[in-house]
Amino acid sequence: MFLLPLFLGGVASVGAVSPLAGVNIAGFDFGVEITGTANLQNAQGPLMVLGNSDGAGQMQHFAKNDGLNLFRLPVSWQFLINSSEFAGSGSGSSNATNGPFNNGTMGPSNNSTRGPFTNSTMMPGNGTTRGNRTPASNAATGTLDATNFAEYDMLVQACLATGATCVIDIHNYARFNNKVIGQGGPSNADFANLWSQIGTKYAKEAKIIFGIMNEPHDIPDLSLWAATVQEAVTAIRAAGATTQRILLPGTDFTSAQTFISNGSAGNLSTVKNPDGSLEGLIFDVHKYLDVDNSGTHRECVSDHVNDTFMPLGAFLKKNNRMAMLSETGGGNTTSCLRDLCATLKFINNNPDVYLGYAGWAAGGFSPETYELTMTPRGSNGNFVDQDIVKQCVVETRGVASNATANGALSGAAADPGNSKAFQSAGTKGMAPASGSGLVLGVMMLRVFSIL
Ligand SMILES: *[C@@H]1O[C@H](CO)[C@@H](O)[C@H](O)[C@H]1NC(C)=O
Ligand SMILES: *[C@@H]1O[C@H](CO)[C@@H](O)[C@H](O)[C@H]1NC(C)=O
Ligand SMILES: *[C@@H]1O[C@H](CO)[C@@H](O)[C@H](O)[C@H]1NC(C)=O
Ligand SMILES: *[C@@H]1O[C@H](CO)[C@@H](O)[C@H](O)[C@H]1NC(C)=O
Ligand SMILES: *[C@@H]1O[C@H](CO)[C@@H](O)[C@H](O)[C@H]1NC(C)=O
Ligand SMILES: *[C@@H]1O[C@H](CO)[C@@H](O)[C@H](O)[C@H]1NC(C)=O
Ligand SMILES: *[C@@H]1O[C@H](CO)[C@@H](O)[C@H](O)[C@H]1NC(C)=O
Ligand SMILES: *[C@@H]1O[C@H](CO)[C@@H](O)[C@H](O)[C@H]1NC(C)=O
Ligand SMILES: *[C@@H]1O[C@H](CO)[C@@H](O)[C@H](O)[C@H]1NC(C)=O
Ligand SMILES: *[C@@H]1O[C@H](CO)[C@@H](O)[C@H](O)[C@H]1NC(C)=O
Ligand SMILES: *[C@@H]1O[C@H](CO)[C@@H](O)[C@H](O)[C@H]1NC(C)=O
Ligand SMILES: *[C@@H]1O[C@H](CO)[C@@H](O)[C@H](O)[C@H]1NC(C)=O
Repeated sequence: MFLLPLFLGGVASVGAVSPLAGVNIAGFDFGVEITGTANLQNAQGPLMVLGNSDGAGQMQHFAKNDGLNLFRLPVSWQFLINSSEFAGSGSGSSNATNGPFNNGTMGPSNNSTRGPFTNSTMMPGNGTTRGNRTPASNAATGTLDATNFAEYDMLVQACLATGATCVIDIHNYARFNNKVIGQGGPSNADFANLWSQIGTKYAKEAKIIFGIMNEPHDIPDLSLWAATVQEAVTAIRAAGATTQRILLPGTDFTSAQTFISNGSAGNLSTVKNPDGSLEGLIFDVHKYLDVDNSGTHRECVSDHVNDTFMPLGAFLKKNNRMAMLSETGGGNTTSCLRDLCATLKFINNNPDVYLGYAGWAAGGFSPETYELTMTPRGSNGNFVDQDIVKQCVVETRGVASNATANGALSGAAADPGNSKAFQSAGTKGMAPASGSGLVLGVMMLRVFSIL
C-alpha cells in the first residue's frame, strides 16, 4: 500500500487514487470457452516451476517497480476439481465442442471476450501439455483436486508474497460445460460447494478477494442469477471468510456499460451478507475500448468515461456502493494509450466509488504477439513494462513506473489530481473524489474498514 506514505508524508498535491491497481495474471484459464467448457490440456499455470511463464516474477516486478497492488488470477472451475469431460483430449470426451484449441471466433457473442487465443499469443510452455485424460465425472461436484489446487495456490501465494491483494477469479462465464449454473446446469448448491471450499482455504487471508464468476452472459433469468450469487456469498461467509471482499458479477460479459440498463445492478443489489449487511460486497465490471467492445482489437475508439464510468459512478455514489473494473485493456497503439489512460485516470480520480482496476493481461500471454498484452518483456530482475502498462496502468496514479531494470525512473509522473471530469460534468450528488489528504484518509478508512 504505497498510498499511505504519501498521505502520512503530507504530499497534499497528490490526489487520492484508486486503492487497488494492477493486472490480470492469466494462464490457468487458457482453454476456457465462453460456453464454460475448459480444455485442461491448454491450461498453462503461469509459473516457472510448472514450466511456463514467470507470473511470480512478473508480479514481483509490478509490485516492487510499479507500486501495483492488485493481481487477478483466472482459473477454471474444471481445473480446480480436475473435471475432465469436455477436456478435448480426444480420449473419449464425447461432448467436447472445442478442439485442441479453438482459434476461431469464440461463439455467437464475442463482444466482450478476448480471443481468439491462438497458440502464438501465448508464451511457449515447456513440458506443460497435460496428458490425455479419460472422462471422469461430468459433475461440477466434489472436492478440490489436491494436485491442481496446489498448483493454483502456488500462484495465489506468489501474489500474496508481493504484499498485493489477490483476486480468485473463477473464469467460467456463469457456466459449466455449456450450461448455466442454477438454470439448467450445476445447482446453486454445487457452486456454493466450490466457493465454500475456496472460502475455507483462504478464510484467514485478509488480502484475498473472491471473484465469484468471470463474465456471465446470456443469462436466461437475472433474478435467478442473483440467487446463485447469493448462495456463493453465503457459502464464503459461512466458511469463515467473513471480512474479505467479494466481487458480484452482472450479465452481458459483466459489462460496465450495460450494468444498470440490463438489470444487473438492480438484481445484484439484493445480494447481502448473512447478517444483512453489504460490507465488502463489490460490483464487478469489465470494459474494453475497441470498436465492438470485444477486447480483440489493437485500436481503441473511446475512453467510455461519459457513457459508462460517469453514469455508473453516479449510481454507485447514490447507492453507497463500490465497483471494481477487473478487466480492461488495449493494444500498443496511440489510440489505446490515449483512451485507456483517460479511462484509468478517471477511475483513479474517483476512488470513493471505484475500488480499483486490473488490466488484461499479463501472465502467460506473449509480450510480443498478443493484441492486449501487458506481459513485461525480459525476465525477472530485468523486466521492462509495455507502454500501455507504464503509461496507463501505472502512471495515471501519479507515480513513475520503473521501466528499466537498473531502477532508473523513466517517464514523468502524471498528475491525476488535474482531471475533475466527474465534478465538472456536474454529476448529481457526487462529491469531489480527489484532492486533500483528508479525503484520502476518509476514503481509506472506508475502504479498509472491513479488514
Ligand atoms: C522448463 O522450465 C523450467 C523453468 O525454467 C526448467 O526448470 C525446466 O528445466 C524446463 N524443462 C524443460 C524440459 O525444458
Ligand atoms: C523504482 O525502483 C527504485 C529502485 O529499486 C525504487 O526505489 C522505487 O521505489 C521504484 N519506484 C516505484 C514507483 O516503485
Ligand atoms: C454429454 O453427451 C451425452 C451423450 O450424448 C449426453 O447424454 C449428456 O447429456 C451430455 N452432457 C452434457 C453436459 O451436455
Ligand atoms: C487455426 O489455426 C490453424 C493453425 O495455425 C490454422 O490453419 C487455421 O486456419 C486456424 N483457424 C482459424 C479459424 O483461424
Ligand atoms: C466478432 O468479432 C469479429 C472481429 O472483430 C467480427 O468480425 C464479428 O462480426 C464479431 N461477431 C459478433 C457476433 O459480434
Ligand atoms: C496448440 O498447442 C497444442 C499443444 O502444444 C498443439 O497440440 C496444437 O496443435 C496447437 N494448435 C495450433 C493451432 O497450433
Ligand atoms: C485428473 O483427472 C484425470 C482423469 O481422471 C487423471 O488422469 C489425472 O491424473 C488427474 N490429474 C490430477 C492432477 O489429479
Ligand atoms: C444488455 O443491454 C444491452 C443494451 O443496454 C442490450 O443490447 C443487451 O441485449 C442486453 N443484454 C442482456 C443479456 O440483457
Ligand atoms: C432483474 O433483471 C431483469 C431482467 O433484466 C429486470 O427486468 C428486472 O427489473 C431486474 N430486477 C431488479 C430488481 O432490478
Ligand atoms: C456486438 O457489437 C456490435 C457492434 O457494436 C453490436 O451491434 C452487437 O449488438 C453487439 N453484440 C452483443 C451481444 O453485445
Ligand atoms: C464528455 O463530456 C464532457 C462534458 O460534457 C465533454 O466536454 C467531452 O467532450 C465529452 N467527451 C466525449 C469523448 O464525448
Ligand atoms: C509499442 O509501440 C511502440 C511505438 O510504435 C514501439 O516502439 C514498441 O516497440 C511497441 N512495443 C511492442 C511490445 O510491440
